[in-house]
Amino acid sequence: MGEGRGGGDNAGRRGLLQGFTDGTLAMTVPNRAIRGRVLTFSDDPQTAGAKAHDFIEDGLVVIAEDRIAAVGEASALLGTLPDGVIVDSYPGGLILPGFIDTHIHYPQTQVIASYGAQLLDWLERYALVEEQRFGDSGHAAAVAAFFLDELARNGTTTAAVYCTVHPESAEAFFAESARRNTRMIAGKVLMDRNAPAALQDTAERGYAESKALIEGWHGKGRQLYAVTPRFAITSTEAQLEAAGALLKEHPGCHMQTHLSENRREIETVRTLFPWAENYTAVYDRFGLLGPRALFGHCIHLEDAERRLLSESASVAAFCPTSNLFIGSGLFDRAKAQDPAFPLRVGLATDVGGGTSYSLLRTLAEAYKVLQLQDQNLPALEAFYAITLGNARALGLEDKIGSLAPGREADIVVLDATATPAMAHRRERVETLEEELFLLMTLGDDRAVQATYISGQRQHFQAGDH
Ligand code: GUN
Ligand code: ZN
Repeated sequence: MGEGRGGGDNAGRRGLLQGFTDGTLAMTVPNRAIRGRVLTFSDDPQTAGAKAHDFIEDGLVVIAEDRIAAVGEASALLGTLPDGVIVDSYPGGLILPGFIDTHIHYPQTQVIASYGAQLLDWLERYALVEEQRFGDSGHAAAVAAFFLDELARNGTTTAAVYCTVHPESAEAFFAESARRNTRMIAGKVLMDRNAPAALQDTAERGYAESKALIEGWHGKGRQLYAVTPRFAITSTEAQLEAAGALLKEHPGCHMQTHLSENRREIETVRTLFPWAENYTAVYDRFGLLGPRALFGHCIHLEDAERRLLSESASVAAFCPTSNLFIGSGLFDRAKAQDPAFPLRVGLATDVGGGTSYSLLRTLAEAYKVLQLQDQNLPALEAFYAITLGNARALGLEDKIGSLAPGREADIVVLDATATPAMAHRRERVETLEEELFLLMTLGDDRAVQATYISGQRQHFQAGDH
């Protein structure tokens, strides 16, 4: 690696630099390429139709350091590569942008698969017990490493991540993410009531700790900060106001919280904020809505709430495995697309309320949630959702979510024959859409052959088939 760099090898640069959008890249020479069947999206297939995706049967993605330098036919690009460029070939493999998860809890890796409770009991019995361990930086660092390994194994290269109330948990997470050069959005949870004493901060402390983390990590390399009030039940009005102040002072930060997941949760919010017209109005009162605001679940929304979310361009995170497992309800995609007040929607795993790190498994459950409501999820729309769709939901579509010159080199390679059952079913597949639907219905981490993060292969498994 690297032999092609810096030696004035102009022949090697032929035809590769014209697509660059970032002037700083113009001096960078390709050092790696990935060959296989390339699929990427430039728009939403639901609205833009067939022109929303590009598919190249024998394609090449050329990487220069941490960015994509070129994407095209292998036959056209191979001859332009400088000597010494590594070409990773995946015959039959499907090369896609790395997957993006818009809502997940890293401290819940040992909460996932906890039996028999709906939301508020589940939090009390499981999640809020486990999260107490994260005041210990060593524990937080070990779990952050496990979590990021697991995301890479599942092809996920970016996520919006909840830490715990302890600033140490966010420090540990960002440090591990920075070490791997993953683009992550994360934040320390704000929680100053209705939680175990060991998990409470105060409005002032939560503000100060969040501010220090923003100053330390937001925009440092690929790390981004999300102001993270857990949900209205566990924050006082003073704390929600402090969260709003943080966002005003740091407009580049995201905001993440939970909204309208469970009926008892909604009733509790009604009693805690009797002045509020509805649950969403609580967050609105404190300035928490907006294009960088991510609201987990949004299952039982009233029309007035949809209007508030729509007019503020806020994002609803649809978490199907969680909504089924915790028994919360069915996300209504058709209603979210109602032209009267359309919502921006992201797809998410919500581990550990969610039951899988895999966005392929998540698509399978999203499909079933929609089937139960006589709605559908075509395969091209599904793969758009977990790549460019989620990049747009996070406002990061100029950096991630597609395979194009200048984009960050986060890439996943899938194998639709990863298991005997998949290989057997694959024999009857005739179209790209059928192959994608097979991957989302039967696929999981076993179908992820390789994951590249910032141009480095951080996960690889040799296929059996
Ligand atoms: N609402 C508040 N906290 C949580 C959480 O950790 N998981 C889920 N699913 N819902 C929540
Ligand atoms: Zn959640």
